[in-house]
Amino acid sequence: MPSVVIKGMGAYAPKNVVTNEDLSQIVDTSDEWIRTRTGIGERHLADESETVSFMASEAAKEALENSGLSIEEIDLLIVATMTPDMLFPSTACLVQSKLGLKKVASFDIEAACSGFLYALEVGSSMLKAGAYKNALIIGSEKISGIVDWQDRTTCVLFGDGAGAAVLSKSEEPDIGVLGALLRADGDAAHLLHMPGGGSNIPASSESLDDRQHFLKMNGKEIFKVAVRYMEQATLDLLESKGLTIEEIDCVIPHQANMRIIDSLGERLGVPKEKFVNNLVRYGNTSAASIPIALTEAVKLGKLKKGDHLLLIAFGAGLTWGASLIKWT
Ligand code: UT7
Repeated sequence: MPSVVIKGMGAYAPKNVVTNEDLSQIVDTSDEWIRTRTGIGERHLADESETVSFMASEAAKEALENSGLSIEEIDLLIVATMTPDMLFPSTACLVQSKLGLKKVASFDIEAACSGFLYALEVGSSMLKAGAYKNALIIGSEKISGIVDWQDRTTCVLFGDGAGAAVLSKSEEPDIGVLGALLRADGDAAHLLHMPGGGSNIPASSESLDDRQHFLKMNGKEIFKVAVRYMEQATLDLLESKGLTIEEIDCVIPHQANMRIIDSLGERLGVPKEKFVNNLVRYGNTSAASIPIALTEAVKLGKLKKGDHLLLIAFGAGLTWGASLIKWT
């Protein structure tokens, strides 16, 4: 079986940076509450021109440049997002047009904050299966467009941005994307969802009055299961690959809450120094959070050849999972 390696990473963060202090002018909150309960200090919020497809394209351009490949060599495009520019066509098709990436297979994956891990697994499996050579895998989100700016329990948590990876097939065995363990539990769909705007509750004056077109979240309930699910997924994945947690050199968890990340680290017995976190500057950017953090880790030289990198995520669905990469 051929391997699939990450050839290049890229990211895009909107220009506008909004601090906790700024948000305390809009809703009844404080820098102290947000920092101590979540670890977030500021977030980037997109303007009208910074659509999900635009941010995805910018991240993809940087990833391509870093990969050394030309756009003509890409033959597969996957965008993970829960905030597409529109319900259809897919954001991937809009990104394809923006990049001038002619007529290659392009589609979206919707697995919320776990979206990048789902896209990575689907993309690398398609490359390994043989029909494709190089793929662009992107996580891009504009959550500011769906949060309720009157709800202090959610609007302070999220941010916008995009991260992208170029994946390539390699004949060298046992390197790159070694595998993933992905899970979902639809019985918990109600814990984090946006009821309106799909075919079930289309826009109406009633749905607008009921604020159905905004993200709704039971953060407390998600908090309870998130750590346990991510811990189990990680342990099961490592066992299936014959690795121990001590053999992991670097962990990039989904950036949702520092208390969740710290608790995960403690339960797994991974020292804090092995974690890459940028939550303080981005907030929760859903499917974009892991590829943005990975892009930063690469830029900072935190990964060296042969390192075992663990990506861990959870989000709406509920969905969760872990991916294991032998860095090249
Ligand atoms: O990507 C996956 C997405 N989901 C998540 O990441 C959710 C995971 N959950 C969490 O991160 C945490 O549960 C939250 C950060 C959402 C909430 O933290 P918490 O420690 O579970 O707080 P809480 O919901 O128990 O609220 C505690 C208090 C409440 O006041 P009372 O009832 O104790 O008087 C809230 O009304 O904090 C209040 N509160 C706020 N106060 C100031 C809630 N939001 C705010 C706020 N500013 N923004």
